[in-house]
Amino acid sequence: MVKIKACVFISGTGSNLKSLIKSSREYNFPININCVVSSTKKAKGLYFARRNKIPYYILDLNNQLNVETILQKLREKNISLICLAGYMKILKKNFINKFNGQIINIHPSLLPKYKGLDTFSKVLKYKEKITGCTIHHVSADLDSGEKILQKKVYVDQNDSKNSLRTKVQKLEYKAYSEAIIKLFSIGL
Ligand code: GRF
Repeated sequence: MVKIKACVFISGTGSNLKSLIKSSREYNFPININCVVSSTKKAKGLYFARRNKIPYYILDLNNQLNVETILQKLREKNISLICLAGYMKILKKNFINKFNGQIINIHPSLLPKYKGLDTFSKVLKYKEKITGCTIHHVSADLDSGEKILQKKVYVDQNDSKNSLRTKVQKLEYKAYSEAIIKLFSIGL
């Protein structure tokens, strides 16, 4: 099977990256992770890139030369999918347009509810009974692109921010891989 060449963008722990690397090892999973981009060299998730011998680059959106260099790397590697996974910077329209492919993101809420940061606090504050995660296409407007897949989970009365995060993240690992399978099985 010829796999789509993908790059995962991270900023932090990289647990979604870890899970995507695992899925990509399956022979019939549609993508291979050919490189990782991080907004900071301090991201813990870079450990998973190093451990799996996946090349990685640090992207500084404020440095145009660096942006051009990374875009060139992605082109050279024929990357046709970028998976944002805990990437904490906002990609400008310019970058989205210049990358000639698809960019998708995972967000820890049932969009369009609770865009942006601190979703778990908001879910608790508004006493939601159900929450979840969304994988969506990235557009110039934050957390607003077309949805690919959502998964839901119950919010318990005694859930805290941390317990909710744990629950939703567990769901995310399954959801992200399923969304990628769904994305590339359209039209078959
Ligand atoms: C995930 O919950 C994701 O939904 C959000 O940031 C978190 C990243 O976690 N955008 P990790 O770095 O993949 O562990």
